[in-house]
Amino acid sequence: MNLKNLLIHKANRCAVITINRPEKLNALNTATIEELNRALATLRDEADTRVVIITGSGQKAFVAGADISEFSSFGIEEGKQLAAKGQNLLFDFIEQYPKPVIAAINGYALGGGLELAMACHVRIASNNSRLGLPEVTLGLIPGYGGTQRLAQLVGKGKALEMILTAAMITAEEALAWGLVNRVTSQEELMDVATAMAESMAKNSSTALASAIRAVNAGYSYQRTGLDVEISEFGKCFGTEDFREGTTAFTEKRKPKFS
Ligand code: COA
Repeated sequence: MNLKNLLIHKANRCAVITINRPEKLNALNTATIEELNRALATLRDEADTRVVIITGSGQKAFVAGADISEFSSFGIEEGKQLAAKGQNLLFDFIEQYPKPVIAAINGYALGGGLELAMACHVRIASNNSRLGLPEVTLGLIPGYGGTQRLAQLVGKGKALEMILTAAMITAEEALAWGLVNRVTSQEELMDVATAMAESMAKNSSTALASAIRAVNAGYSYQRTGLDVEISEFGKCFGTEDFREGTTAFTEKRKPKFS
């Protein structure tokens, strides 16, 4: 596989995908989303890969969001397509993946980064991690399933608090809220994730796939929610607040919303 933005390492029937754009805090640009889709599709079809771990490169970030520089000039239709395509290629794809996918969160998991972690089946975070959905500071809302999956994981009240304040929470808070399954030291993160992956890999692969399908089926109502998210996400791209929010990020200043 020719992958520019990912590293893949395989051992003991587990594959580790490392998103490798540390200079941009592993922000998800279109190329990275497409590569993740291709890599996951290939690993899905390999019999000797039973479990996948996704992590970020460097000490600072898992993924600091969708790549803001790529979409700051988008209009409403392009915004809707951005959300719909990303959900289809990556976020829904992972949620419905027939092999367990573990997010090893090694730092900032913000916006699309937290949405990526939430689409995975299990989340393990190192204790330096900070998690949040800061989209409203950009005049946006989460567009990769965050409005639906966060509410499923932490409940509606805490989900609305996180989305409306845009505040980041610590790994320990995320553990208490049920947003992550475990917290480790930075040094131990990959060992803990790998040990969990290997314990899953020993189990029946057909049973693992069935379990994922059955658990997901209990949340099938979310389709309507995701459709509303795509439509509302698109509308944000027609607002002055979105122009101001993304311009302020690029200019490294605080936004002034009307
Ligand atoms: N999209 C594009 N570029 C991003 C990015 C994103 N989501 N997050 C970080 N980067 C880039 C920065 O622009 C910077 O690039 P530069 O060196 O070319 O200027 C580089 O990554 C390092 O980020 P920087 O902001 O300098 O690091 P920091 O330690 O001061 O702050 C964060 C870290 C995570 C708090 C900050 O980068 C941030 O707020 N990122 C955006 C988070 C966000 O809103 N995500 C949701 C997007 S929908």
